[in-house]
Amino acid sequence: MARILITSALPYINGIKHLGNLVGSQLPADLFARYMRGRGHEVMYICATDEHGTPAELAATKAGKPVAEYCAELHDVQADIAKGFGISFDYFGRSSSDENRAFTQHFAAKLAENDLIEVVSDKQVYSNADGRFLPDRYIEGTCPNCGHVGARGDQCDECTKQLSPTDLIDPYSTISGSKDLEVRETKHLFLRQSKLRDTLDKWIDSKKDWPILTTSIAKKWLHDGDGLRDRGITRDLDWGVPVPDMPGKVFYVWFDAPIEYIGATAEWAKANGLGDDAWERWWRTDKGADDVRYVQFMGKDNVPFHTLSFPATIMGSKEPWKLVDYIKSFNYLNYDGGQFSTSKGRGVFMDQALSILPSDYWRWWLLSHAPENSDAEFTWENFQSSINKDLADVLGNFASRVTKFCRSKFGEVVPAGGEYGDDEKALIATLNQRLTAYNTHMDAMEVRKSAAELRAIWAAGNEYLQNAAPWTVFKTDPDAAAAVIRLSLNLIRLYAVLSKPFIPDASAALLTAMNTRDASWPDDVETALNTLPEGHTFTVPEVTFAKITDAQREEWQEKFAGVRD
Ligand code: 2FM
Ligand code: ZN
Repeated sequence: MARILITSALPYINGIKHLGNLVGSQLPADLFARYMRGRGHEVMYICATDEHGTPAELAATKAGKPVAEYCAELHDVQADIAKGFGISFDYFGRSSSDENRAFTQHFAAKLAENDLIEVVSDKQVYSNADGRFLPDRYIEGTCPNCGHVGARGDQCDECTKQLSPTDLIDPYSTISGSKDLEVRETKHLFLRQSKLRDTLDKWIDSKKDWPILTTSIAKKWLHDGDGLRDRGITRDLDWGVPVPDMPGKVFYVWFDAPIEYIGATAEWAKANGLGDDAWERWWRTDKGADDVRYVQFMGKDNVPFHTLSFPATIMGSKEPWKLVDYIKSFNYLNYDGGQFSTSKGRGVFMDQALSILPSDYWRWWLLSHAPENSDAEFTWENFQSSINKDLADVLGNFASRVTKFCRSKFGEVVPAGGEYGDDEKALIATLNQRLTAYNTHMDAMEVRKSAAELRAIWAAGNEYLQNAAPWTVFKTDPDAAAAVIRLSLNLIRLYAVLSKPFIPDASAALLTAMNTRDASWPDDVETALNTLPEGHTFTVPEVTFAKITDAQREEWQEKFAGVRD
C-alpha cells in the first residue's frame, strides 16, 4: 500500500468559484484521490481557502463586513459547495489558521537564518486620510498614456499599459476617495530566490515525467522571464500573517498560501485530536514522509508559484520538508465563445451549476473534457449531447434495461440457469484489456483518456447486451437468457465500482440498487462478474440519468448568457 498526499490549489476566498476553476484543481484532484483510495492506498487530500491579500480585503469591503467575518462565512460557503460536488477532501482548512501563521513565520525565520532574506527600503504611497499604505490597486487616477479616468495603480484597463501608482495623474485612494496621498519610505523583506536558480533548474530537469505544460512554464520563468527575481514577501496591510518585529506588516499572500498545504494538514490533525506526528508523517521526510508520493493539481496560472517560489521556500529552509513529486497542471476552460470570468461574473458558477443539475452531470462533462493538452470550451450543445449520449443512453440505459427485464421475467433476483459461453468470454477478454488501460491512464492522471476508456467499458456492455438479445432468447431458451442477465447484473455492479471516481453519487445509487457494499476494485473482470451470486436480490434503480431536453438547454443558455453581480 502506497501513501499518497494530494493537494489542489487553494481557492481565493473572494467569492464562489466558476466551473473553469473547478476543472483545473479540485475536481481532477478528487478523481485521483477517489481512484487511489479505491485501489486501497492511504490518501491524504488537502485543500483550504486562500484568505489573505488585497482581494480578500476588497471583497469584504464590498460586502460591508469585517474581513475576518467575511472570510469565515465564505469559507463555509465554499466548503458546502465543494461537498455538493462530491469533493472528498480529507480536510478543507483556512490559510488564516493559527497553524499556518506559525508555519509561515517559521519558514521566514529559517530563510533569514540561511541568508535568503534581505531587508529592502522601498517607496510606497501612503494615504493620510486612511492612515495606511495603499497597495497598487487601491489607488486610481488618470492614465498618463491614454487619459482614461479611473486607471488603477498597477495597470490601465483601457490601454493595458502597466503602471506604477506614481505615474497616475490626480491619484486618489479607492478606500476613502482622498487625494491626500504621499510617497513614504517603507522597509520590506525580500526573498533572495535568485540564489537558488541552479538548484531549482536541476530539480526541474530531474522531473522527466512531468506534464510538458508544467515544465515548460517553469523553464520559461527560470530562463526567459524574471520569475526568479528577488521578490518582496511582505506588504503593508493589517490582514494577513504578521511579520515578527515589523509592526503593520504582513507576509504577501503568495508566500503564506502554499505553506497552508502543510498548515491545513496540521489543522486536520488537531481537529481529529491527533498529535504532531500525524501530520509530520506526511510532510517531514525525517518523520516518514520519504515514503509519500506528493501530487499537486492546479491551473496553469499557478504553476510558477508551485515550481519556483514555493520550492524555493522549502529548499531554502534547509529542513527536511517533503517536496512535490508530480505537478498536474491544466489549461483554461472557456465559456461559450469567451472566457469564464470571476470579476465579470461570466459563465456558470459552482452554486448555479448545482442549482440546475446533480453534481455527477457536471463532474462527467468537466472531467471528460478536461483542458489537458489545450484550452477547452464549454458549450451547452456539447454538454447536452455528452450527457445524453454517455450517461443517459449508454450507462443509464444499460442499468435500466437489464434490471427491468429481469424483474419482469425472473423477479428482482439474480437468476439461476445457463452458463457463460463464447460471447461472454469475448466480452470478459475485451473488458480485461480495457480495465488495464483504464488503470494505466488513471495512474498517470490522464483524465480525458481515463474518461474515454470508462465510456468504452460502458459501451462494451451495451453492445454485448444488444447482440445477446435476452428478450428474444428468452422465448426459446430461458436458461440462456438467465446467464446473460446474471452477467449483466454483475456488470452493473462492476460499472458502479469503476465509475465511482467520476460519478460517485450515481455509483452509490447503483450499488444500493444491486444491494451490495462490495465495491472492491477488480483485479480481473471474470472474478468481478461472478460476484453477485444466483438468488441475490436487487431493486430496479431510480432513473439514474435524465436526458437534457432542448427546452432545458435553451433555457439555461439564455439564463447564463449574461453576467452576474
Ligand atoms: O489562483 C488562485 O486561486 C490562488 N488562490 C491559488 C493559491 S494555490 C496555493 F499556493 F495556495
Ligand atoms: Zn491608459
